[in-house]
Amino acid sequence: MPVETIEVPVSQPYPVLLGDGLDPAEAVSERLQPGACVILTDSNVGPLYADAVKSALEEAGWRVLGVVEVPAGEASKGIGTYSDAVGRLARLGLGRDGTVFALGGGVVGDLGGFVAATFMRGVDLVVLPTSLLSMVDSAVGGKTGLDLPEGKNLVGSFVRPRAVVADTRWLRTLPDSEVSNGLAEVVKMGLLSGGEFFDELAFVPGARSGDGEALRALIRHSIRFKAAVVGEDEREGGRRAILNYGHTIGHALEAAADFALPHGAAISAGMVAASGLSSSRFATDLTGLHEDLLRSAGLPLRSPGVDVDAALRAMSRDKKRSVADASTEHRFVLLRDVGQPVYGVAVGDDEARRAIGALVG
Ligand SMILES: NC(=O)c1ccc[n+]([C@@H]2O[C@H](COP(=O)([O-])OP(=O)(O)OC[C@H]3O[C@@H](n4cnc5c(N)ncnc54)[C@H](O)[C@@H]3O)[C@@H](O)[C@H]2O)c1
Ligand SMILES: [Zn+2]
Repeated sequence: MPVETIEVPVSQPYPVLLGDGLDPAEAVSERLQPGACVILTDSNVGPLYADAVKSALEEAGWRVLGVVEVPAGEASKGIGTYSDAVGRLARLGLGRDGTVFALGGGVVGDLGGFVAATFMRGVDLVVLPTSLLSMVDSAVGGKTGLDLPEGKNLVGSFVRPRAVVADTRWLRTLPDSEVSNGLAEVVKMGLLSGGEFFDELAFVPGARSGDGEALRALIRHSIRFKAAVVGEDEREGGRRAILNYGHTIGHALEAAADFALPHGAAISAGMVAASGLSSSRFATDLTGLHEDLLRSAGLPLRSPGVDVDAALRAMSRDKKRSVADASTEHRFVLLRDVGQPVYGVAVGDDEARRAIGALVG
């Protein structure tokens, strides 16, 4: 498969390189001179790929000061792990001209991105996304984030990586449940985009059962769609908000479940709820379509056992709420139809409570 380059068209554009069996050092060689670097990874991905990445970088002349491994899982997107990781970078002697290679899923990407954005007021970042979710979504667009007990991604920054290198070969070791979690974001973007990409959601079952071409088509379309949206509105002044489809309730479910619920599963239920809210406002009923697509991706449609009050509290702390919102309103992305998202739709507390209640009972 030839390497594809998709530019993220922000003011300092950066490439997302997509291929099967990429040399990460060669992939970044046009953008970055070899120098001192650190590989940040997690305890699942590190043992599988850190050695190979380290060797490839060293062969190309990089000085790999160390591999910093954090425990796998959402809990590593916390202040404690952040503090440990930057401490390690300082002790390894990474300087202001250093580079962080973030090798892992969305957790490593969000943590590593924030580390790179803040260590010594900012060092270079290369993202090497290894999960489907990170390839199609979190590695593209420059958002980084840490969770607080009060809610998800409440600390973070925007960062522009020098490059994103997505090697689909890494996906071969990804557990099936994580393929499904990544497909949640793919389904989200297909619904938002409409058109040819939406039609390609018919590839979802094939992509799950090992059809590499189907999977790559979905990854390619997702990256292109996300890059285009980010290019229009990098800092989420407006339209980028559509990417939060299913996330208002999804994030609240995650926080209410103390982050024990996978992100993909949470936004799957969040999208089902959003489709219900959409049909109560617009003359469309997309709930059956959502359920079919999400089921075909192996995702849950509900989130039994989550505490409604805790979810509502988390939603009230959501950073996307503006001060101007009355305390009883939440802002949602809804779908007027496939390919026609509307953002900033006000949803009252009672209606939100009913929507969450329908998912958790
Ligand atoms: N920054 C953004 O724009 C953005 C967008 C969407 C999601 N996110 C964040 O991304 C995170 C979720 O990302 P995720 O689903 O990748 O989670 P993750 O990083 O926890 O990865 C999921 C699991 O798969 C393992 N894994 C990853 N790659 C593997 C591989 N190739 N082989 C075997 N195991 C592998 C990980 O160790 C982990 O156990 C959430 O914290 C979410 O908030 C951020
Ligand atoms: Zn998401």
